[in-house]
Amino acid sequence: MKILSVASEVYPLIKTGGLADVVGALPAALAGHGIDMRVLLPGYRPVMAKIRKPIPVMEFADLFGTTASVLACTVDEMHCLVLDAPAFYDRDGGPYADATGLDHPDNWRRFAALCRAAADIAENGVGGWVPDLVHAHDWQAGLVPVYLKHSRAAATPTVMTVHNLAFQGQFGPEIFSELGLPASAFSVEGLEYYGDVSFLKGGLQLASAITTVSPTYAQEIRTAEFGMGLDGLINARAADLHGIVNGIDTDIWNPATDPMIEANYAALKLKKRQANRKAVAERFGLADTDGPVFTAVSRLTWQKGIDVLAEITDDIVAMGGKLAMLGSGDAALEEMLTAAAARHPGHVGLEIGYDEPLSHLMQAGGDVILVPSRFEPCGLTQLYGLRYGNVPLVARTGGLADTVIDANEAASAARVATGFQFSPVTPDALREAIRRAIRAFGQPKVWARLQNQGMKADVSWGRSATRYATLYRELLAIQR
Ligand code: ADP
Ligand code: GLC
Repeated sequence: MKILSVASEVYPLIKTGGLADVVGALPAALAGHGIDMRVLLPGYRPVMAKIRKPIPVMEFADLFGTTASVLACTVDEMHCLVLDAPAFYDRDGGPYADATGLDHPDNWRRFAALCRAAADIAENGVGGWVPDLVHAHDWQAGLVPVYLKHSRAAATPTVMTVHNLAFQGQFGPEIFSELGLPASAFSVEGLEYYGDVSFLKGGLQLASAITTVSPTYAQEIRTAEFGMGLDGLINARAADLHGIVNGIDTDIWNPATDPMIEANYAALKLKKRQANRKAVAERFGLADTDGPVFTAVSRLTWQKGIDVLAEITDDIVAMGGKLAMLGSGDAALEEMLTAAAARHPGHVGLEIGYDEPLSHLMQAGGDVILVPSRFEPCGLTQLYGLRYGNVPLVARTGGLADTVIDANEAASAARVATGFQFSPVTPDALREAIRRAIRAFGQPKVWARLQNQGMKADVSWGRSATRYATLYRELLAIQR
């Protein structure tokens, strides 16, 4: 089975969050199911700098007013198709915003171009390779089902995966005429959304199936509280909605072999973790401590509940905990955390920025990974925490609820607990969960059991890859 996966970021070429990890891991995870998945992504400047021996496989004389080409290349055994369109992608800043954090003003065109190229690949193939199905990720790929529907490849089934419903790709109606779609596409059955153009809405409306990245989030987005205005549409499509929890790449994230950490270790051999803990303490200027080192690796946004964490940093220190945080994002949140670090030198350490190797070291050396998200489609940092013996303390929402087993009495007695959950996302509830974690940390046997149970949890792609493969097969069978 040949599948074209379309996304705006793919690890290891370009990453701002979990989307990249997931899109980058799926091809290898699905290869064992007889699936040949190739990934189409934009040729941003850092992507063009990383790829080797690109082979042009498709040319565009005029793709939204510019010349472009699709380049085939292989990255760590993953087959990539890079849309090289310098007018759209060869610029300063990140994939979505300029260096000052402002969205690129032509994002609609940059990602419409990606979707148009995907539809052309489905129609004509590249180098004789014609996908049987196209899998689109998030709003940047939302127009894929829309373009496909109005193309010669209209029969090609599509899967639309929602990694985060908060980002919908909504633009004014004036862009519609430039998308090269028939007027009929601008309707309630198409991409029209309260008079605007919505990339994600179009994709959700027209995809053969919708998936999201955990079963709980699949239920949550059917409610007004989490549906971000799209709950009506999602409910109408409930029969085609699937919640498939993310896995992680257990080769890249393997404490026994990870080259980015200070000392390698395995479950039941946790003494060796100490060297990593020491390295984290040094990196964040934390004093020696008997209490736990809490870690956070996160985009600094409202979604992630970072303001709630910032509010109780004084309490964490007063209870004997230390805090090491890595992240970047909203200026106000960066300021709150910077102030907390300044108030508690030796107890609260902060790195503002994006640092992939440091994120690995923190998982290897932290005692607890904090994920206090207000909503979380899946979340990967708690999965990395489980794999590394960095016990997750998470809000009971979305994928966090699905992947961490709270150390309540029953789960502890049954020896299946892997972390701590709390709800609602308030300073009081978070403080109470942290108190529970500190208490458990004070009992070395209890703590070692939690760590080892977490490290035994199956966070691989195994079961979820099977679910994707089954879904693809069902869609192809329906189409035939
Ligand atoms: P989201 O995609 O919503 O940001 P996830 O938990 O799914 O949340 O994925 C976040 C990914 O980004 C993880 O791989 C995490 O380690 C990484 N990450 C987030 N912030 C940073 C940072 N400042 N430095 C390095 N890695 C980060
Ligand atoms: C999004 C979500 C996150 C999820 C990731 C990968 O960024 O916010 O919860 O883990 O996508 O699916």
